[in-house]
Amino acid sequence: MIYSKIAGTGRYLPERILTNAELETMVDTTDEWIRTRTGVERRHVAAEDQSTSDLAYEAAKIAMAEAGVTAEDIDMLIVGTTTPDLVFPNIGTLLQDRLGIHNCPAFSIEAACTGFIYALTTADKFIRAGETKCALVIGAEIITKLIDWKDRTTCVLFGDGAGAVVLKPSEEPGILSCHLGADGQYRDLLYFPIGPSKNLFNPPEAGAYIQMKGNEVFKVAVKTLGKVAEEALAANNISKDDIDWLIPHQANIRIIQATAKRLDMPMEKVIQTVQDHGNTSAASVPMALDVGIRDGRIKRGQTLLLEAFGGGFTWGSVLLRY
Ligand code: COA
Repeated sequence: MIYSKIAGTGRYLPERILTNAELETMVDTTDEWIRTRTGVERRHVAAEDQSTSDLAYEAAKIAMAEAGVTAEDIDMLIVGTTTPDLVFPNIGTLLQDRLGIHNCPAFSIEAACTGFIYALTTADKFIRAGETKCALVIGAEIITKLIDWKDRTTCVLFGDGAGAVVLKPSEEPGILSCHLGADGQYRDLLYFPIGPSKNLFNPPEAGAYIQMKGNEVFKVAVKTLGKVAEEALAANNISKDDIDWLIPHQANIRIIQATAKRLDMPMEKVIQTVQDHGNTSAASVPMALDVGIRDGRIKRGQTLLLEAFGGGFTWGSVLLRY
């Protein structure tokens, strides 16, 4: 039996840090409101001249070095992102070129904040099928360029970053199971109103910014993330106690706490980065994973539950032995 196993991870955050105190000078908000309602204390914001592939490139280099692989070894490159540099060529190919990786499939998956989980799941299937020997899987995002900095209901939530993982075949587990889901009936609760084939030259009055009914998103997110975690446990016939670390999408500390509670998991077993990163969409899970590995909390042999939820809605989980 072939499993896919994480051989190395990396993350990259843009230099500029935007604090809640600074946001207080930009919109009618307070540090106290942001911290208590969301858990966010600061977030990184990409520079004007940075694009998502710049962030992804840095994270990828670290993950590859950590895994001890070179450009020649990579035979699949997948990027989960909602904010690619261009419509095409796809960001996977842009990265391929910069990293010196040639002649392998390279593509992006657009599933909003669940993008990395979708990408990891896809790479896992190729590795299990024996077709891929070394996959570079990335979640990268410059979501702050889609934000209305005058809208206090959204601008306090998001940040930029990139996380990368090198996945290789192994006889030892490995990724144990992946569970993806989506339901398009919620499309109007969280969306960006412009795309290459819609409204591009005629933006809606609301403007070309992220539109979100935060309250309603919150309720569905809590319900779905709890359910998806339980689904992963049931599929593997393991109990809540068998999970060493929960690595959830970092959208809001209250959503994370609700999921942990449903799993009877103390917050000490949850990797939390929302306070430092904000919601970085598809980058949030791989960056949180990298944080936990780098600071020594996540150890080889431990069982991790990764999960995410995003616009669409889309959702998913990956249960793995690190
Ligand atoms: N500062 C101060 N007040 C703010 C504010 C801000 N940044 N943003 C909103 N408010 C106000 C609202 O205007 C509202 O005022 P009102 O009662 O006078 O109308 C009040 O705070 C409560 O707003 P509400 O939207 O009910 O707050 P909430 O507790 O639901 O928190 C979110 C708002 C956005 C933090 C929360 O709903 C959330 O996190 N939702 C999920 C978003 C998400 O995760 N999106 C990505 C999914 S991947």
